Amino acid sequence: MVNSESDDIFETLLESAKRLSFDSRDSNLCQLEIGDNERHGMTPQWSPLFGTPIWNRLSESECVQVTRSEVAHFLGVGIWLEVGLQVALLRAKHSADPARSDVKFLFNECADENLHSLMFANAVKSIGSKFYPRDRMLDFFGFIFRHLAWGEVAHGIVLAGEEIFDVMQRDWMNSDNVATPIRRAAYIHVVEESRHMMYARQNIRQQLIGVSRLRRFISTLLIAAGTHVIAKSLINRRMYDALGLDWAVVKLDIDGNEHHRMMFRKAAGPFIEFLNKEGLLNLGARWIYRKSNLL
Ligand SMILES: [Fe+2]
Ligand SMILES: [Fe+2]
Repeated sequence: MVNSESDDIFETLLESAKRLSFDSRDSNLCQLEIGDNERHGMTPQWSPLFGTPIWNRLSESECVQVTRSEVAHFLGVGIWLEVGLQVALLRAKHSADPARSDVKFLFNECADENLHSLMFANAVKSIGSKFYPRDRMLDFFGFIFRHLAWGEVAHGIVLAGEEIFDVMQRDWMNSDNVATPIRRAAYIHVVEESRHMMYARQNIRQQLIGVSRLRRFISTLLIAAGTHVIAKSLINRRMYDALGLDWAVVKLDIDGNEHHRMMFRKAAGPFIEFLNKEGLLNLGARWIYRKSNLL
C-alpha cells in the first residue's frame, strides 16, 4: 500500500518529468561537431586500461579507439539494464491500479528508458562504434533477474546500475575531449535518471518497512550479487579481442590497475552510502562489494 507521504514524492517526480524531459529522438543530438573525430568515446580516466602499460604503449588515436569501443560496450550494458528493469518492474505492477501515482511514474520511467536506449544506440552509431556480444552468463543472470527479482531486490539492482552510470556520465558530459553526441546523451541521461534514482530509493524504503530480518538478509546479499554481475559485465573480453589487444595482457593490466579500482569505488560511492543508511550492507555484502572493487 502506498502511503500519502510517498504519494507526494511520486507526484513531485511526475511534475518534474513534465517540466524537464528531453526528446532523445531528436536527430540533432547525434550531429558530430568539428574535432569530434579525434575525441574520445568517454572520459579516458574511466577506461579500465587508463594508465596501464598497454595504455601507455598505445598512440593517442589508438586510445581514442579504445574508449570509443569501451563506451559502446558500457552503453550496451546500460541498454540491457534499462530493458531488463522494465520487464522486472512492469511484471510486478502489471495488475496494479494505473491511477496510483507510483504506477503512473513507472509508466513515465519506462517511456524515458526506451528513449534512452534508442538515444544510446544512435550515439554509439554516430561515433562509428558498435555493440559487442555479452557473456552468456550475463544473459542467464538477466533471465533470472527479469523473472524472479522482487521489490527491493529489483529496485536495488536497478539503482546500482543507475548510480554507477550517473557518476561516470557526470564526467563524460563535462569532458572537452569526449565526442559531442556522447556528451549530449550523458547530460540527458543524468538529468532524467536523477528522478529514476529517487523513485528506486523511495520504493526500496517502502518495501523494507516491517520486513523480517531473514528477508532483509537475503535481499541484501542478492542486491550485492546483482551489483557484482553488473560491475564485472563492464569489462568484456570480446571487445578487447576485436580491438586486436591480447586479452591475457589486458586482463593482467586491468587487474593490477589501482586507478581503475579507485574510479569504480568512486562510481559506487553514493550507492554504497545509500545501502549503509538503509541497513542493506552486511558482512557478506561488504565482502562481495570488495570483490567487485566497489568498496
Ligand atoms: Fe536510462
Ligand atoms: Fe533509469
